[in-house]
Amino acid sequence: MDSPAPSDRQALIRRLLAFIAPFRKQLTLGLLCSAVSAAALPIALKQLTDFLGRARAAGTQTPALLADVTHVGLTIVGAYTGLLLFRFFQGLFLSEVAQRVGMGIRSAVFTHLQRMPLSFFHSQRTGALLATLTNDVNRLQNAAMLLRDGVVLPVQALLYLGTMLWSSLEMAVVTLVAVPLMVGVIHLITKKLRALSTESQNRLAEATSILSETLSAPRVVQAFSAEEREVARFNQANDGAFQAAMRGIRRTSLLTPTVDWIGAVALALILYAGVYFRVPTDRFLMFVAMANLLANSISGFGNVRGQFEELLGAADRIFTQVLDVVPSIRDADNATELPPLSGRIVFEDVSFGYAEDKPVLSQVSLTIEPGEVVAFVGPTGAGKSTLADLIPRFNDPTCGRVLVDGVDIRTVTIASLRQQIGIVPQDSILFSGTIASNIAYGKPGATEQEITAAACAANAHDFIQAQADGYQTVVGERGTTLSGGQKQRLAIARALLTNPHILIFDEATSALDTQTESVVQEALGTWFKGRTTLIIAHRLSTIVNADKIVVLQEGKIAEVGTHTELLATGGLYSLLYNAQQRGLSA
Ligand SMILES: Nc1ncnc2c1ncn2[C@@H]1O[C@H](COP(=O)(O)OP(=O)(O)O)[C@@H](O)[C@H]1O
Ligand SMILES: [Mg+2]
Repeated sequence: MDSPAPSDRQALIRRLLAFIAPFRKQLTLGLLCSAVSAAALPIALKQLTDFLGRARAAGTQTPALLADVTHVGLTIVGAYTGLLLFRFFQGLFLSEVAQRVGMGIRSAVFTHLQRMPLSFFHSQRTGALLATLTNDVNRLQNAAMLLRDGVVLPVQALLYLGTMLWSSLEMAVVTLVAVPLMVGVIHLITKKLRALSTESQNRLAEATSILSETLSAPRVVQAFSAEEREVARFNQANDGAFQAAMRGIRRTSLLTPTVDWIGAVALALILYAGVYFRVPTDRFLMFVAMANLLANSISGFGNVRGQFEELLGAADRIFTQVLDVVPSIRDADNATELPPLSGRIVFEDVSFGYAEDKPVLSQVSLTIEPGEVVAFVGPTGAGKSTLADLIPRFNDPTCGRVLVDGVDIRTVTIASLRQQIGIVPQDSILFSGTIASNIAYGKPGATEQEITAAACAANAHDFIQAQADGYQTVVGERGTTLSGGQKQRLAIARALLTNPHILIFDEATSALDTQTESVVQEALGTWFKGRTTLIIAHRLSTIVNADKIVVLQEGKIAEVGTHTELLATGGLYSLLYNAQQRGLSA
């Protein structure tokens, strides 16, 4: 898997805009509404200062002045009423864009994750992924709002600056010194925020990892009285996130006061210039009010800039950690549909390792004929599961080929390959839902008869019937808890239901007692007919009838033969088998 280097700013911004682009109509409307509504304050101020000028000229209260003030008051209320309506609509439009962008990114991330090969989930910490999916996506959601402020605030600033120049050129000169100073300060303070946000996010991801680990294994934590250690571990990451966040906050908190302080000094200078150049009072007031608004716009823009840096950090993580990761296992460009199989499997000089320098399988060659029942045995860690995982292409061999019915499995579509394989993995996972929906996971439209038949074959029918709601009993998270053996039997039923041509059982009956195991095996016997079946077995007594027994040791095939043949040769198999027999009779 190739994780690209952190993308540069411009590229990031372009890609972010691409997520917003589909909603440019709402966005433009929102921005227009926002710009229009911003005119309310200047209009009111203009009315007010003009009136003050007239009031000063009139000297005393006259009926004409009273009429004038009524008119001014009504104009102000009218302007506000009209313009705030625009603000209402800008809120609606832009919030919709924000929500849609968030929804779009969440869906893109989830969809992309579903295409990732198993190795991706082994190499990535789930906590980091979860943190990215929740925190970072929420941050990106703000892109539309930031875009609004990023566009509207500078426009406002220019508008105010223009009014100021028009009010008094002499006083405006002061502003021309103050504004660049403010912008410079903003740049200095905000430029480190992206790095700080990344650091805080990394620590948060660590905390989320610990959370998801302990949530999935509370039994282990409690059995080893490790609660306090876990709390300490969590708090350390939590505290790290807090420290990094605080460093960012100290910076952003500096922003508004510093900019405002420059504004205050500028105001004093403006005051001086106003008196020195004898600027008329109404223009003077207008100017000061505008200068204040300008300062607000600039410090507001500073905050936007800071948030924008954090947003870029979030976007960078989403792109580099998820969306840009090219799945290493995917359909070839000219992949074809695999026709229905007869089930011959050939491993041709297959080697594989999870890490480059540590081979797990070396030069395995093996042919499995259609309809054969083949057992894989060998010590833990010999590579049995790894070898079986190559057939549905959970991994691709580093050397050699895997063929089904003479076709290299890398030349057919993954979906058409996996549809014909039924897998019962080493650990049985149930999804939240009913027992029936769990069995029908691979074939959502399965009929009741199909589900029952599969459950019967897995010797699960009786215990399912005994549940309160039978097949409709809710299991999984917040559902009825089943025993390990019961879960395993549901997993077997799930694999059988899709009626696959190849069946792979990876220690699929390890959680059953010997008696239940032999009942299940007997029931399965009829299902094995006409299918190629691979059984990875721990208890050797269960596979004595297999057509072929393959003994794996340290990633190599040590022996192949039937039970009788292997016992006769007196190799590794006979050692393992005799040891287990002694264990049973002892
Ligand atoms: N996802 C993985 N990442 C890295 N190493 C792995 C992974 N899965 C298995 N291994 C290693 O590969 C070797 C073979 O494992 P496995 O195929 O599970 O053995 P078996 O099923 O025979 O017990 C072991 O050394 C194991 O540690
Ligand atoms: Mg295994």
